[in-house]
Amino acid sequence: MSPSPRVLLSADEIAARTRELGARIAHDYVDRRLVLVPVLKGSFVFAADLARSIDAPLRIDFLGVRSYGAGTESSGVVQITHDLSRPIEGDDVLLVEDIVDTGLTVAHLVTLLQTRGPRSVRVCALLHKPSRAKVAVPIDYLGFTIEDRFVVGYGLDFDEGHRNLPYIGVLDGQ
Ligand code: IMP
Ligand code: MG
Repeated sequence: MSPSPRVLLSADEIAARTRELGARIAHDYVDRRLVLVPVLKGSFVFAADLARSIDAPLRIDFLGVRSYGAGTESSGVVQITHDLSRPIEGDDVLLVEDIVDTGLTVAHLVTLLQTRGPRSVRVCALLHKPSRAKVAVPIDYLGFTIEDRFVVGYGLDFDEGHRNLPYIGVLDGQ
């Protein structure tokens, strides 16, 4: 059996930070038409906890994406595998990402969402690897900045595995 990934961010650390982000978001979106848009699949765990930490009315609608390209490298060419179920015209959209790596996925999605006439589009990401950035993307709500390591757990996968780990971990040798 392969060893468990080494803990980088514990479940408690993630929960505490998520509560802080949720409180800030609830404060910033008073009397707005907030729509959380988690990017599947990686964001499903973070989005579920974040949504429950926002004490304000909101909708949730999902975007599914697949980025073309070799291996774990993002190419920036993003295919939509599941689109939003409703229009977002006049809404205040908050894109929810597990991790911003090169930034190409978020940059593409923000541009796409802006074509649909929302009142605003902002980004909330649990993790950011700034050393890998290829394009600058403003992250309005950020959980943690991490070093250039491939991380798994809390929704993030390696070859579809480890998504159910309750913490963010690093695989052996990474
Ligand atoms: P970007 O377009 O390079 O910013 O790619 C972001 C996407 O790549 C994320 O939403 C993840 O799905 C995936 N990704 C990037 N880094 C990692 C990692 O360390 N572990 C797991 N998935 C990652
Ligand atoms: Mg993702």
